[in-house]
Amino acid sequence: MTETVKKIAVMTSGGDAPGMNAAIRSVVRTSAYYRTECIGIYRGYQGLIEGDFTPLTARSVNNIIQKGGTMLKSARSKEFMTKEGRQIAYENLKEKGIEGLVVIGGDGSFTGGVVFNQEYDFPVIGIPGTIDNDIYGTSHTLGYDTALNTAMDAIDKIRDTASSHSRLFFVEVMGRDAGFIALNAGVGAGAEEILIPEEDLGLERMLESLKKSKRSGKSSSIVVVAEGDKSGKNVYELANYVEENLEEYEVRVSVLGHMQRGGSPTCFDRVLASRLGVKAVELLIDGKTNLMVGLQNNEVVATDLEKAIKGINNIDMDLLRVSDIMTT
Ligand code: F6P
Repeated sequence: MTETVKKIAVMTSGGDAPGMNAAIRSVVRTSAYYRTECIGIYRGYQGLIEGDFTPLTARSVNNIIQKGGTMLKSARSKEFMTKEGRQIAYENLKEKGIEGLVVIGGDGSFTGGVVFNQEYDFPVIGIPGTIDNDIYGTSHTLGYDTALNTAMDAIDKIRDTASSHSRLFFVEVMGRDAGFIALNAGVGAGAEEILIPEEDLGLERMLESLKKSKRSGKSSSIVVVAEGDKSGKNVYELANYVEENLEEYEVRVSVLGHMQRGGSPTCFDRVLASRLGVKAVELLIDGKTNLMVGLQNNEVVATDLEKAIKGINNIDMDLLRVSDIMTT
């Protein structure tokens, strides 16, 4: 390790995710370990443009590993999408003597980092932080495991009341473009049907499956729907559609929403955050740039940042088959 980088900065950007605080802590403490100064940037790229910086020492990040949200706040910056905005951001970094940037966020945040690097040759390393798990180059993004368990716990609770009243519940979980939460929380909570953006199974199939489930003696049912599912109907329309077509069902809807983005990170997310933070700082100190750190086969690896943005983290479609078999 060359240890020539004397000052770096860290920010969280885009939608927050549990484990972001643990990642900030790891970046700050790894910097302290290598005697590299670390600056925190508030509100992502917006704070970078506004010069909203704070020095962070190993003690600034005490007692945050267990906390949800992000102590550095987060934002989606429109100004950073302009050339003028990025110019100001660069000048702010130069003025403070910052030599490298760790961006904790999703693909939108990484796109900003890649453009910034292309324009100013400024070293950027990404840490994947989003509950959606939709980033290529890592089996898990920060916050995904926590969100998954939050969603599963919520579905378990809904199952209690669904069963007491013999009702069918449509439960909408987050995932604008990806069905990781829906598919895995759905299988984990024993959902009868799971609708995801990656596969349009068709409404007829859902009706058939619900009819079958009633015939087989089930009194309550849960259908998990990802926000971005491809049926062409939102969760309320789906519920109406089933009520109109299957009179035997009394239907209710529950939208879990942003509760899935909050809460204390699971042990898995805290450990992942700690590992990725160490690697991110070590790469910067080593003079590396335009990389994203991630987990593959339980090893921490680096992927080209552009590849991480453009690639697709494929969902395990066999889980749909498993889910199908489980509803027998
Ligand atoms: O990308 C994470 C995510 O939580 C998506 O699952 C969801 O569609 C989106 O962010 C919601 O964004 P916002 O908080 O801006 O409403």
